[in-house]
Amino acid sequence: MRKVLTKIAAISAVAVLAAGALAGCGESNTVIMGTNAAFPPFEYTTSQGLVGEFDGIDVAIASKIAENMGKELQIEDMEFDGLIASVSTGKVDMVVAGMTATDERKQSVDFSEPYYVASQIMVVAPDNTDITKAEDLKNDKNVGVVLGYTGDTIVTEDLQLDESKITRANRGIDIVQDVKNGKLDAVVIDSATGKALAEKNGLKVVEDAEAFETEEYAIAVKKGNTELLDKINETLAQMKANGEIEQLALEYDEKLAENAQ
Ligand code: ARG
Repeated sequence: MRKVLTKIAAISAVAVLAAGALAGCGESNTVIMGTNAAFPPFEYTTSQGLVGEFDGIDVAIASKIAENMGKELQIEDMEFDGLIASVSTGKVDMVVAGMTATDERKQSVDFSEPYYVASQIMVVAPDNTDITKAEDLKNDKNVGVVLGYTGDTIVTEDLQLDESKITRANRGIDIVQDVKNGKLDAVVIDSATGKALAEKNGLKVVEDAEAFETEEYAIAVKKGNTELLDKINETLAQMKANGEIEQLALEYDEKLAENAQ
C-alpha cells in the first residue's frame, strides 16, 4: 500500500512538472529574441548561422545575454514593423534588431543602454554624380526606404519628400535592387547595412553627416520589464568593457565583405 502511494505521489509529481513545463509557467528556460533578419551585419540568415540559420552582431549579443541568464536563445523572425507590438504583448521577450532608440518608440517600450552608433546614408548607382548630399534627394529623385525604419521617418518627416517620390519596401535587401535596376535613384538606410548591401550589389554609398544625425541602437523590452532589462544591461556593459562588441562589428564587416567578393 505504501509503495503504491509513493508511486502515485511520484507520478503526480511528474504530471505536475510536465503540466508546468507545458503551460510555460514558472521560470522558462528560453529567452525569445524578436528580430527582422534582413539587416546585415546585425542580423541575416545564412546556411550555417550562429543560432540555426541566424547570424550577425545582434545574434551574437543576444546569445551572450541568454548564456549569462542560463537560458536558451530562441529567435522569432518577423517584419520590422511588427517588432514593437510583439514585445509589448509578450510574444517575444526582447527586440534585438539594430533598432534605433527613438523618442517615439520610447513611449511604447523600454530600451537598454545603447550598444552601437549609426547614421543614415544614401545608396546610389556607381556612376551617379548628382546625389552628393541629402538635399539633392529633393530634386525630383525617386527614393527608397524600408517601411518603419528610421530612414522612412527621415525622408518623410525631416526631408519632407513628396509621397509620390517615396517607395517603401519591407526589406533593405530588396529595395537596393531597385537602385541596381535603375527604378530608384537612392535608398536611405542605416550606415553599416547600407555599406554591406552596396558592397554586395556593386553600388555606391554617399554620406551626409550634417543632414543625418547619429542614431543609437538599443535592445527593447516590454515596458516595466526591469528584471530582464537589468540582465541585458549587465551583459552589454560587460561586452562593451572588454571590447567584444567592437570586435564583433569588425568581424562581421569582414565576413560580409568576403562574402560579397
Ligand atoms: N535602425 C533602424 C531603425 O531602428 C533600422 C533597423 C532595422 N533592423 C532590422 N533588423 N531590420 O528604424
